[in-house]
Amino acid sequence: MNGTAELIIDGKSLELPTIVGTEGEVGIDIGKLRSTTGAITIDPAYGNTGSCKSAITFIDGEKGILQYRGYNIAELAQKSTFIETAYLLIYGELPTASELSEFSELLTENQMLHQDMLQHFDAFPPKAHPMSILSAMIHASSAYPSQKTYRKSLKEAFPIHAARLISQTRTIATSSYRKAAGLPPSYPRRNLKFTENFLHMMFSLPGEDYELNADVVRALDLIFLLHADHEQNCSTSTVRMVASSQANVFASASAGVCALWGPLHGGANQAVLEMLEEINKDGDDGTKFLDQVKNKVGNRRLMGFGHRVYKSFDPRAVIIKEQCDKVLAQLHKSDPLLDIAKKLEEIALHDDYFISRKLYPNVDFYSGIIMRAIGIPTNMFTVLFAIGRMPGWVANYKEVMDDTESRISRPRQIYTGSTLRSYKSMAERV
Ligand code: ACO
Repeated sequence: MNGTAELIIDGKSLELPTIVGTEGEVGIDIGKLRSTTGAITIDPAYGNTGSCKSAITFIDGEKGILQYRGYNIAELAQKSTFIETAYLLIYGELPTASELSEFSELLTENQMLHQDMLQHFDAFPPKAHPMSILSAMIHASSAYPSQKTYRKSLKEAFPIHAARLISQTRTIATSSYRKAAGLPPSYPRRNLKFTENFLHMMFSLPGEDYELNADVVRALDLIFLLHADHEQNCSTSTVRMVASSQANVFASASAGVCALWGPLHGGANQAVLEMLEEINKDGDDGTKFLDQVKNKVGNRRLMGFGHRVYKSFDPRAVIIKEQCDKVLAQLHKSDPLLDIAKKLEEIALHDDYFISRKLYPNVDFYSGIIMRAIGIPTNMFTVLFAIGRMPGWVANYKEVMDDTESRISRPRQIYTGSTLRSYKSMAERV
């Protein structure tokens, strides 16, 4: 039921309509605020601002709920696959058998990079971070349009562009790894599924195929699925912001990769591993490190902890932690970093610093340990996050494009700089 809210500015009252989402979330529509009162709202970092209406993902951070298109994340994690979930996110419904096979075929058809694109990899220095390569190469792919999309509008070409992005992100990611490792390029195989192909392209050597292990494939597919969308976070908002100017989906997704890279966002999975390695190297069991965090020594943070939205637990972290134990057991691996992670979690969950600030493990706290066990190098962790997040970005891009009322995003500001002054000649500037 939609209602109203009353705002009083300088004694003048203004009635604002409220909007209620399907899960009961209430938003106050301030669309007419500036035109009627001259005032704007200010909400740095957008903690209280709804930037759009969206039917893709629902999160209740207080209760630890995450749903893609109405399906609970735990149920999808148990019963679905990354590619089926990608279809669900982008097109709104779980696919029928024929829809899924058509979608998979489109992904397969579009998985190869244009041969000329391979020369771009040679231009990067050997130590380039794979996230910088990923964003640049995704952007570059818009310069290599597929024959099938010539003369098609962005909207008509969307299914092909979406498939190309999802499939080629994986191909670009594995190619950048192989280039950095000095390995010859490897190509996707038509007979392998999405995640199998990722592992094959990463690890197969000339004359020696990577041996696929069903448990490893399942664990990685789950990591992709759990990262597939997460509502209006930093990178997805960036994608929507760029899309609002009607930029193409490659440019929009490339901007998403850049936003994801930071250690406070997707880059946290790499930062967690580096933190655990440092603690291990120091011979600390985590106690000394946590003291430094609590005393804000060097502004240290417990990476992989805390979330802007989740204030009780991150449901993805619960699933990942369970999977982490399983994968290590199945691969017969023990990892001192896992022991440190468990110790840090145990201390933090009982410590008033973390409890009072509602800081709990997020999805990145344990995902790195699984990826490390599979043999993924640390600097590729955020790239894997980007592969997983691509369907969510594509779904959000589509939502912007399909919205007939969409306008270019253009926030305002409260100016705090100097008031009008006169230009000074060089001699006057002392
Ligand atoms: N370790 C220690 N203290 C923390 C942490 C942390 N991980 N996170 C927040 N805090 C503290 C802050 O220092 C602050 O304390 P104060 O009140 O004494 O000043 C308080 O908690 C609130 O922190 P904010 O930075 O205001 O919280 P915000 O909602 O802006 O940040 C964020 C959320 C960025 C995720 C933060 O918790 C963080 O930096 N976590 C570590 C990085 C991380 O794991 N990021 C991944 C997030 S999940 C994802 O993007 C996939």
